[in-house]
Amino acid sequence: MGLTIVVERTTAHKAKPAIDQLSFGKYFTDHMFIMDYDAGKGWHHPRIVPYQPILLDPAAKVFHYGQTVFEGMKAYRTPKGQILMFRPYKNLQRLNRSNARLSIPSLDEGLVMEALRQLIKVDEDWIPAEQGTSLYIRPFVIATQATLGVSPSEQYHFIIILSPVGSYYEEGINPVSIYVESEYVRAVTGGVGNAKTGGNYAAGLKAQQEATDKGYSQVLWLDGVHRKYIEEVGSMNVFFKVGDKVITPALNGSILDGVTRDSVIRLLKHWDIEVEERAISIDELVEAYRSGLLQEAFGTGTAAVISPIGELNWQGDKLTLNEGRTGPVAAKLYDFMTGIQRGAIEDPFGWVVE
Ligand code: COI
Repeated sequence: MGLTIVVERTTAHKAKPAIDQLSFGKYFTDHMFIMDYDAGKGWHHPRIVPYQPILLDPAAKVFHYGQTVFEGMKAYRTPKGQILMFRPYKNLQRLNRSNARLSIPSLDEGLVMEALRQLIKVDEDWIPAEQGTSLYIRPFVIATQATLGVSPSEQYHFIIILSPVGSYYEEGINPVSIYVESEYVRAVTGGVGNAKTGGNYAAGLKAQQEATDKGYSQVLWLDGVHRKYIEEVGSMNVFFKVGDKVITPALNGSILDGVTRDSVIRLLKHWDIEVEERAISIDELVEAYRSGLLQEAFGTGTAAVISPIGELNWQGDKLTLNEGRTGPVAAKLYDFMTGIQRGAIEDPFGWVVE
């Protein structure tokens, strides 16, 4: 028998932020979804409640051993007033792959989809309509059992919170400067790099901080074994336009299987642009730059969609791409992706869900 989602509406609506104040993940809507798990009952008691703090025991496993996963997705309000989501099932499948890797019990994807529909409907007034804005959706699981033994928790919360957002970067779609990281690594094959789990992001903070101190927005991650092959950029997948082709690192176990990454690959192929998913070394990239073949580089992710790279710093050498401006491929991808997402361009792939 399917679980019924109980809805408790708030009586104290919060003031909504002005559109130019949004930035990324700063404000949260009036409601949230929460569901509990325990070993005896499984997932149970799904409910939509007023947005509120949660009470946890200080011994809850998530605080000590990082047993947690999350997702990031967006809902858009179209000029005609429809509310669209972009490939939500792909995120839910990935959520369960992350769960499996972190020894967290799997979620019923149909129930989570229904929770998303109902929660977004309850807070639909919070979805901004201006171009470049959306409702960012953050589903996550935390291990709540209060025991310090290192073993999978027998209790969890699954929560969904919503945040109206503007552009991820203050700079908008303008190119960012990237520092190629040679000291720290983000993940290794066999670890949790391909799961969306907090530890991967915590592991990246130090490098990001040092890059920021040097005047760079983010780092380009190299692999942890050879310190040679390109993996991701900041918290995004990365693409390079080399000659007529577009190259992106293959999913090798330490790279996140991005929904935007997959969409970009499919769009490029749809436009008859050759895409190679393979290992690409920093030496190959520098060589392509020196011979004039490296034309563009950009990151892809749900939050920023497409983030062009204007400069790469590799051991002090500065590689300026497309004269530091957004390249044509990145610009076309950004326009097309955001156009499909906002319902302004016909979606040839059936990606958007009302
Ligand atoms: C994304 O690019 O969507 C991300 O995963 C970044 C997010 C952690 C803010």
